[in-house]
Amino acid sequence: VKKIDVVRKILADRFQQSPVYQTAEAFAPTNIALCKYWGKRDTELNLPLTSSLSVSLAHKGALTRLTVNDLACDVISLNNQKIKLSDIFSQKLIEFLNLFRAETAPKFNINIDSNIPIAAGLASSACGFAVLVRVLDKLYDWQLSLTQQSILARLGSGSACRSLWDGFVEWEMGVASDGMDSHGQALPAKWPELSVGLHVIAATPKKLSSRLAMQQTVLTSQLYQAWPQQVKMDLANLKTAISEKDFLTLGKTAENNALAMHATMLSAWPPIQYSLPETHASMDKVWQLRREGLNVFFTQDAGPNLKLLFLAQDLKAVTEQFSNIEVVMPFDSK
Ligand code: DP6
Repeated sequence: VKKIDVVRKILADRFQQSPVYQTAEAFAPTNIALCKYWGKRDTELNLPLTSSLSVSLAHKGALTRLTVNDLACDVISLNNQKIKLSDIFSQKLIEFLNLFRAETAPKFNINIDSNIPIAAGLASSACGFAVLVRVLDKLYDWQLSLTQQSILARLGSGSACRSLWDGFVEWEMGVASDGMDSHGQALPAKWPELSVGLHVIAATPKKLSSRLAMQQTVLTSQLYQAWPQQVKMDLANLKTAISEKDFLTLGKTAENNALAMHATMLSAWPPIQYSLPETHASMDKVWQLRREGLNVFFTQDAGPNLKLLFLAQDLKAVTEQFSNIEVVMPFDSK
């Protein structure tokens, strides 16, 4: 099954029709996985080997505006800077847009405003593709359900299928070969005290994409066999922790899940390591603080940065120790 087949199925008779409006704008939050998506059963459709669970980061994400232009090509700008069409960033974006428009259809001006560092392991592709689907839905007036939008966003990047909702989101892996049952769904629980500290260690683009890294892990890591079992346990524990507001279990499970994912990468060949010396130093610091009684945990994605997890009551103690973190409260409605 190809991406275009999925698009055709979801859009049905609206497939490749013309935009209804000249311009549209939308926002999507980025999300941080507490139980990671790592490994695919289908690399074309980004269908995962396991389910995963994330929390969206409220106002942290991407605001994107599409405007139909009368030029022969798309014009892309990111945070008010024009991006070359030959750039890998532009190519991925245009390839995705081309799933939704005929070859002869008009091109777009694409303006993206992102308030997270691109490709620094802060899940920028997640909100990037989710917001594109949202804005296309508006421009073409498709009125797709969030589930349908989640399926389309997944075609751009797996983790994007979790960025259509605020709060906790579970991505059910599904079993269908066309992925119609593999999409995000919101968990109803709210947790106003939950805090995430973005600890940026290096905001430079990563050397190896998560796409290639997870493929290399699945193909070569002996430890990967243990991963689906770990995920099953972690998902169950996280869901209980969320419904009982048991922060120690949530923190412990998320941290252990991230470390287990990175262990599968270290045991891949060639080995994959996203951590820098400063990453390890910060991990040591978190562990030391916990020994001293502070309830702070971390999670880490495909980059050197950490996301600290703690409760609002410990905000002062955590920011005293990590002065450069940016704190996001996922359930803060502001
Ligand atoms: C470590 O969603 O970026 O952030 O589907 O190939 O685009 P593709 O991968 P991507 O991988 C995200 C990996 C992760 C874990 C997660 O967000 O669940």
